Amino acid sequence: MDACSPVTTTFSTPATATLQARLTAIRYAAEGIHLFEFCALDGRALPAFTAGAHVDLHLPNGLVRQYSLCNPQGETHRYVVGIKRDAASRGGSAWIHDQLKVGTVLTLGGPRSHFALHEAAPHTVLVAGGIGVTPIACMAQRLRALGASFEVHYSVRRRAEAAFLDVLAGCNLHLHVDCEHGNTPLPLAAIAANAPADAHLYCCGPAPMLDAFESATAGRPAGHAHLERFSAAAPAAAEGGFTVQLARAGRSIFIAKGCTILDTLRVEGVAVQASCEQGICGSCETRVLSGRPDHRDSLLSDEEKQSNQVMMVCCSGSKDPVLVLDI
Ligand code: FES
Repeated sequence: MDACSPVTTTFSTPATATLQARLTAIRYAAEGIHLFEFCALDGRALPAFTAGAHVDLHLPNGLVRQYSLCNPQGETHRYVVGIKRDAASRGGSAWIHDQLKVGTVLTLGGPRSHFALHEAAPHTVLVAGGIGVTPIACMAQRLRALGASFEVHYSVRRRAEAAFLDVLAGCNLHLHVDCEHGNTPLPLAAIAANAPADAHLYCCGPAPMLDAFESATAGRPAGHAHLERFSAAAPAAAEGGFTVQLARAGRSIFIAKGCTILDTLRVEGVAVQASCEQGICGSCETRVLSGRPDHRDSLLSDEEKQSNQVMMVCCSGSKDPVLVLDI
């Protein structure tokens, strides 16, 4: 067993707010995609969210999964998430599709957002691939409500898999059905090239699409291209060889080679919230009091990474011998 194996942990104590919510409806959205609607138990208003935000679903099987909200920003009587049943599901989407019944009460965490919409942008380009359409649909509704200038490019493999077409009608939608275009992907280079220089561009979809989006937008002004990943873009930092000082706990813990900060904190019995453990959900975001993290997450913008104010302890390491964290 590795020295940083998390077997003996007292992990974890959720740090973000949670609430109990009841699943009040399941609706068909497209082939393999259902919409799950949750309402507060006591009928009170739910915490507000902004377009691009997600919530954590704490499943009875012990898993915690993040799903983007797709109902309009401003609604506080419900949260709606669109979930595709993943054929390679490790117990999240398959359990939700196969086991979750209307009336069930779940713990929800959040809402949180690392995919925020710049509402004042002169023009916005929204790009979605597959189930990545969920935050994009929410953003499109918001931009339409604001009367903003925007366009939506939505790629699906087959027309039957296209969700939210009712919501996206009237949103300057360009639907790209791969199998009707000789299985060619969305022409992201051309889409980015045609966008005004001061436009903000957003993309959510599978990894190849996100990689192509990053290439297509590489020359755009800093902070104008935004994406949300479903899987890690880089391996976790496990080089070790540095010390983490926990300012509030008054402890110093050495991170050994082969271990992540999160792994080691677990072994040491330090309670830190975490979920995806890949740097894509934000659950483990921790304030940095001093030192320079070696950021490996897919959430923080370049500016946020350079500011070194927060880090994801599940996957990021340290460039300095000592890192002081607000734990
Ligand atoms: Fe998801 Fe760290 S646990 S970002």
